[in-house]
Amino acid sequence: MTAEIDSAPERGGLRLTTAQVRLASGLVLYAFAATHFLNHALGLWSFEAMQAMQDLRTAITRSRPGTALLAASATVHGLLGLWRFLQARTWQLGWRNVVQLLFGLLIPIFLIRHVFDLRGVHEAFGVADTYAYALWAMWPGSAWNQAILMLLVWVHASIGLHQWLLLKPWYRRTLWLWYAYAVVVPALSFAGFVAAARTQPLRPAFANPFGPGADYGVIERAIAQAELAYAAILGGAAAVWLALVLASRLRPRVAVRYAGGPTVMAPRGMTLLEVSRANRVPHASVCGGRARCSTCRVRVIEGLAEQPPPSEREARVLRWIAAPANVRLACQLRPSASLAVSTLLPAGIDAARGAPADPFRWGVERVVTVMFADLRGFTRMSEGKLPFDVVFFLNQFLGRMAEVIEDSGGFVDKFMGDGIMAVFGMDPPAGRSAAPEGGGGARQALAAARGMSGVLAALNQSLREDLPEPLAMGIGIHTGPVILGRIGATPRSDQVAALTALGETVNLASRLEGLTKDRGVEAIVSAAALAAAGAPPGEALERAELPVRGMRQPVPVWIARRATDLPDGAAGPVAGALPA
Ligand code: FES
Repeated sequence: MTAEIDSAPERGGLRLTTAQVRLASGLVLYAFAATHFLNHALGLWSFEAMQAMQDLRTAITRSRPGTALLAASATVHGLLGLWRFLQARTWQLGWRNVVQLLFGLLIPIFLIRHVFDLRGVHEAFGVADTYAYALWAMWPGSAWNQAILMLLVWVHASIGLHQWLLLKPWYRRTLWLWYAYAVVVPALSFAGFVAAARTQPLRPAFANPFGPGADYGVIERAIAQAELAYAAILGGAAAVWLALVLASRLRPRVAVRYAGGPTVMAPRGMTLLEVSRANRVPHASVCGGRARCSTCRVRVIEGLAEQPPPSEREARVLRWIAAPANVRLACQLRPSASLAVSTLLPAGIDAARGAPADPFRWGVERVVTVMFADLRGFTRMSEGKLPFDVVFFLNQFLGRMAEVIEDSGGFVDKFMGDGIMAVFGMDPPAGRSAAPEGGGGARQALAAARGMSGVLAALNQSLREDLPEPLAMGIGIHTGPVILGRIGATPRSDQVAALTALGETVNLASRLEGLTKDRGVEAIVSAAALAAAGAPPGEALERAELPVRGMRQPVPVWIARRATDLPDGAAGPVAGALPA
């Protein structure tokens, strides 16, 4: 789906977003750079072939339309790059974004001399800047300048291309080929440049390359002016950026509370994704914050009305995934007031869309909390009802329960008829935590169970006219090690397989849920889960050692007649409080 988001047409005619313009101008520049590099590489083979391809290229790039397109692309791409830099409120943008940005800003410093030394002398003095002339002018004095320029351009462009194509299945399938291409092209290019320079008898042909009376000082002065102008632009942009960052630090901060995670204070002006990165809160962002993938989406639990409305670009992505009104893209939302959110995709999905480091692709062992919840007496209740009514009731129940689970920081593993399996604590805890292993997930699960019980009571109230008797449910919770892995995709499949949890912990949670029916209670929580949450059980819970099928020893548990009786866990890693 994400690839389609990127290429989906706007409603109501052609309206390009800045990201699309930046991408289009970048592709024009990439085409110029790639053919330029391949042109150099021909030097390994034949100087004549090198020059023949150069003639072909310049016929296009030096034509009026070609020159206009290149100049416009370079200007627009540069300005939009600077604009993106000005919008960032932190350097914690992800290493790829930082390298791409820095390399992009450095390119003009090395490019100015290159352009004036070749195209500049061509325009000023009518010099035929053939390869023979270019190599004479640059070898060996400017060889390092040339090498650094090639490196900056290629790395900047390759990162941009990778971030864009990562969402496309055919690219992920052939990733190894693209990595090889990204290394081989610049290597061959520089080798071709060196080989041609070392084999050509250049100097005698260019004893007086600019013609009689030509003053090369004109070019030197133009280079100095261009370098000065760029330094002024860079300095001005850096000053504006610093002022904006300082201003945002001085303004009142907003509190961001992550469901089942920390509460952090953040300056206004940062995107929610920047806030997550700055505070090391795991947060999926496959496209690197470019509003292309939707994996950074969050549900805003509190404070939605006080937030700025989605931009056209964000709204377009949200429309595309049919997101409900309380879902926003973290990479686009700049909170203007305190809010509480729950991330909707595990942070591991970042790599899972195709990068080889997918932590779940081959399975990982992790201590998590598993919850099973099941609707009681649904079969009896659905007798005599129209199929439409049955599906409506079930969707009401499951939809509300899934929302509570996600808002508590959990991940809905699967729906099973009228039941749900959920996993809590899949992402490693943010920062250092003194809590026992799996503690964060256990606290989230207890909070979810309490919330689910409350939602069920409200649902029963709103549906009381239609229900022969109130809906009831059973919840089983256990904390322990599981295998988290992607199950169900063939190695050649384009689809990312569903993430699921496997192991004894899952079986035990399921059996505890089954026991709630025998005991006529709403929740049974293993003692291990309660201990992990750091939660004193309180007087409403009953301690028991229950025989469980498949277990040699009785399992110590805590029984809650109502899930709302379950205790709150120990305080999580809270760095601030949500102001009233
Ligand atoms: S849409 Fe991709 S990170 Fe936000």
